[in-house]
Amino acid sequence: MEDRMISGEQQETERDIELSLRPEWLRQYIGQDKTKENLHIFIEAAKMREEPLDHTLLYGPPGLGKTTLASIIANEMNVQFRTTAGPAIERAGDLAAILSSLEAGDVLFIDEIHRLPRSVEEILYPAMEDFCLDIVVGTGPSARSVRLDLPPFTLVGATTRAGLLSAPLRDRFGVHSRLDYYDTKALCAIVERTADIFHIGIDKEAASEVARRSRGTPRIANRLLKRVRDIAQVRGESVISNDTTQTALKMLQVDGEGLDHIDHKFLLAIIDSFRGGPVGLDTISATIGEEPQTIEDVYEPFLLQTGFIQRTPRGRVVTPKAYAHFNREVPSS
Ligand SMILES: Nc1ncnc2c1ncn2[C@@H]1O[C@H](COP(=O)(O)OP(=O)(O)OP(=O)(O)O)[C@@H](O)[C@H]1O
Ligand SMILES: [Mg+2]
Repeated sequence: MEDRMISGEQQETERDIELSLRPEWLRQYIGQDKTKENLHIFIEAAKMREEPLDHTLLYGPPGLGKTTLASIIANEMNVQFRTTAGPAIERAGDLAAILSSLEAGDVLFIDEIHRLPRSVEEILYPAMEDFCLDIVVGTGPSARSVRLDLPPFTLVGATTRAGLLSAPLRDRFGVHSRLDYYDTKALCAIVERTADIFHIGIDKEAASEVARRSRGTPRIANRLLKRVRDIAQVRGESVISNDTTQTALKMLQVDGEGLDHIDHKFLLAIIDSFRGGPVGLDTISATIGEEPQTIEDVYEPFLLQTGFIQRTPRGRVVTPKAYAHFNREVPSS
């Protein structure tokens, strides 16, 4: 069972760095003020009642801090943090094994919870609602169902696609928290905090430049900062300058709006090959050679949010803002 308890998606070194950057307490978690305020109250109330926190669903685009928040919940509740992910649990028995190994109050984090197989999901319903496990023992006519008690625990589910969650599962979460893209001010604070952890200074302007070009996403801000730091180090800077930052971002092919070369490929394909759209997801995916799911989860939410594209019933269309971004004329129809 242990090999099903996974802790991350990146390779080893990247993961170590990411772990060292992860805030451990709610007060270190920057931005997302409404979510933080709510969680703070729910956590304090649960602690006063000496009960586990209600099951909590965290949703929002990748890299906004869902996993981080889940581990913060465990720290704040002063309980163990157990982690697994939807695709790692193939059979009902796998989940039953994990559930029966929990201790009272534990936070069980299930990442990508929308990818739990349906048969596994059904095990979760009584576990979440009544803290019990229904298991079938024996086979054929002698098979019978046995109910096992579980210690009270908190399930924290994370998903980039709340819409893919089944209604019965979604309804069993008492707390629903949506994480939004971060504003530049919050990202600036994250960049400065990360620079601090890296023991390097950063010019105010440089920090806000990294922040502005990070697609509202802390993980991207930290990733860009790492590359900017490399160049600063080679140049012998103890405080990262704005000039170094501009050079680094140019090398990384991140433009002034934070769009990278895949965003460019995506937008330009719609502009050049489909006269601005509408075009279906699968068609655009085949055209640019990126997985539809990646486009939908990673690229589109930010392009929608920032108004470069719109979704219509007939497919994606680019907006005049996208034409302007590439200095193109909007075609007359
Ligand atoms: N509010 C925050 N304050 C400071 N740093 C943050 C914050 N949120 C996220 N980070 C940083 O961003 C990184 C990515 O966050 P995290 O892994 O929690 O995102 P995620 O939402 O779980 O992403 P995914 O959907 O890909 O699993 C963390 O390692 C952490 O360093
Ligand atoms: Mg995560």
